[in-house]
Formats: sequence, structure tokens, C-alpha cells
Amino acid sequence: MDRTVIVVKPDGVSRGLTDTILARFENDGFRITSKKNLRFTLEQAKEFYSPHVGKDFFQELISFITSGPVVAVVIEGRNALERARQIIGTTDPASAPKGTIRGDYGSGITTNVVHASDSPESFRHEWKIIFG
Ligand code: CMP
Repeated sequence: MDRTVIVVKPDGVSRGLTDTILARFENDGFRITSKKNLRFTLEQAKEFYSPHVGKDFFQELISFITSGPVVAVVIEGRNALERARQIIGTTDPASAPKGTIRGDYGSGITTNVVHASDSPESFRHEWKIIFG
């Protein structure tokens, strides 16, 4: 059993998709072990996305993720990191298969409705910012 952080982004929350998105994980056998409603501060957002500092999309990403409330959860399950990333689909919804969360609901590479940790290090980093 291991864990990963999932964040329903401002577009997912404002479109009323939170329960639908979280159900995708629960229906696949994941258990939600922590849940937090929050709005990222600028400082939290910059720290959360610090691996992307200097990239041309960084500013847009920070202004989007701080634009409204998000719902963050920790989910627990076998092979959590890899399975969760399969469930959410590729970063760009345009190339994410139907049946994945981003393929079904994402509207753009920034507005891609959901985030999942991509490594054990990013899980620890993200967990500390949101739940630590
Ligand atoms: P996420 O999984 O939250 O991690 C970083 C985010 O940067 C990613 O989802 C996208 O929403 C966003 N992003 C915006 N533009 C790009 C890009 N060109 N390449 C990768 N990620 C991008």
C-alpha cells in the first residue's frame, strides 16, 4: 500500500466535479485517508510547483491554481502513484484518452481539472505543503 496526493484544481471545483473525480479513485479501490478544502496562497502555490520554476508556463500555472478553492486528498492503495496517474490521464487533455479524468473533463493544458504526485519525492513535498 502506498499513498499519493490528488488535487482537484479550481476548474474542477467550480464546475462541481469534485465528487465525480474522487469517485473515480474510490471506484478503482483507493481509500481517501485525508481531505482538505483550501485556497492556495501565492507562497504555497510557488512552493507546490517549485519543480516548474523558470518554465514558460509557470506564471500562468500559479495564477490559475490560486484563482479559486481546490480540494486536496491523500489516497491510499497498491501502486498508488502509477495507478493514479493512469486514472487522471496525460497532462494535456487533448491527448488524454477518453475514460481518463483529464480526457473526459479537461479543457486545456492548464485547466486540466486534477493533479497527482508524480514520484515519492513529489508526494512528500506536496503532502508537507498541504497536510503537514
Ligand atoms: P500538473 O500535473 O498539475 O503539474 C504541472 C502543471 O503545469 C500541469 O499539471 C499543467 O496543468 C501545467 N502546464 C501548463 N502548461 C504546461 C506545459 N506546456 N507542459 C506541462 N505542464 C503544463
